[in-house]
Amino acid sequence: MKSVNIIVTGFGRVGRAFWKVVEDKREVCRERYGLDLVPRAVFKSDGGIFGETALSMEPFLTDAPLKPLESPDWKPGLRVQDIIGDIEPGVLVECTPSDLRTGEPGLSHLTAALEKGWHAAAASKGALVLRFKELTGLARKSGVHLKFSAAAAAALPTLDVGIRSLAGADVLGIEGILNGTTNFILTRMGEGLDYGQALREARDKGIAEPDPTLDVDGWDTACKLLLISNAVMRTDFSLGEVQVEGIRDLSHELVVKASRLGKTIKLMGKCSKDERGHPWKLEVGLTLLDGSHPLYGVNGTTKGITFYTDTMGSVTVTGGKSDPLGAGAALLKDIIGIYHDR
Ligand SMILES: NC(=O)c1ccc[n+]([C@@H]2O[C@H](COP(=O)([O-])OP(=O)(O)OC[C@H]3O[C@@H](n4cnc5c(N)ncnc54)[C@H](OP(=O)(O)O)[C@@H]3O)[C@@H](O)[C@H]2O)c1
Repeated sequence: MKSVNIIVTGFGRVGRAFWKVVEDKREVCRERYGLDLVPRAVFKSDGGIFGETALSMEPFLTDAPLKPLESPDWKPGLRVQDIIGDIEPGVLVECTPSDLRTGEPGLSHLTAALEKGWHAAAASKGALVLRFKELTGLARKSGVHLKFSAAAAAALPTLDVGIRSLAGADVLGIEGILNGTTNFILTRMGEGLDYGQALREARDKGIAEPDPTLDVDGWDTACKLLLISNAVMRTDFSLGEVQVEGIRDLSHELVVKASRLGKTIKLMGKCSKDERGHPWKLEVGLTLLDGSHPLYGVNGTTKGITFYTDTMGSVTVTGGKSDPLGAGAALLKDIIGIYHDR
């Protein structure tokens, strides 16, 4: 049995869901993979819980916001950078907000972890989107893994399929419905709601964030597409190079008309060859699909991705839970992968 120290930065929806998955799958991890996951520290924006030995999981298994001051191990102002060098390296699980301008605080967390010989599994996108080459280079230099399935469509396996299942094939292009919120809104518009009504319903159901800007303006899809492209095709795209269109200006009439013609309008992320010099082009935009497209029937919060290859034809994966639990499960999958693939 291998004991693996776990530190989690961020204790919001994904951080909490991750602990729940770890607790629910404790025996599976032990029996199937020989891994004993040991919680060592949890960090919020204003401090952390860190003890000299394993933390008790009990206070973390709650849907309510953590009341850190109730823990005897709560240390106001403590940051992961302050303690990570003092613990036997394991896996840092990064679940702080995705800041697409600075990459912080995830960038500092991931850098500290990789420099100190910790593996990392990230749900946050900012640092990876802005500093992909630097962080993957640092992981390589330190001889550790940097995983980010949870940042690249989470429970929908995009990176595993692109990197492992298609190994040896040349990927000629990628198309994906990578954002559950916008796909839900477009699906409901196809069923008769206008944009405002569909967005309200998505908010009421807890699907859309209170501020849905990154989703509805296409940036969340762009980030996932960029991470998939840079990881699978080894490109070096920055966010400014992605052509991005959102769904705000789509007219209800157009969606209904497409529906009547047996077609559907989707927000798609596409990675394709550009004949005018640059080898690859990344774009996010509204696309009209007919029934023959493999992603035509991907509705509601479901996501999907199609890889077009030279030797394996086209490979499509759809599904995967689009919620914090799915993200928590993707983080656990990455941790298992770190030790199981070695
Ligand atoms: N929600 C999903 O379904 C989903 C799916 C895949 C990926 N993601 C990504 O996962 C990440 C987390 O999402 P979420 O929904 O869990 O967000 P959230 O509910 O807003 O939680 C964010 C957490 O990060 C903490 N935090 C903020 N700044 C910090 C700092 N400097 N040091 C340590 N902790 C800090 C916050 O602490 P306080 O409590 O003190 O504010 C909070 O606990 C995001 O990057 C998101 O894009 C989310």
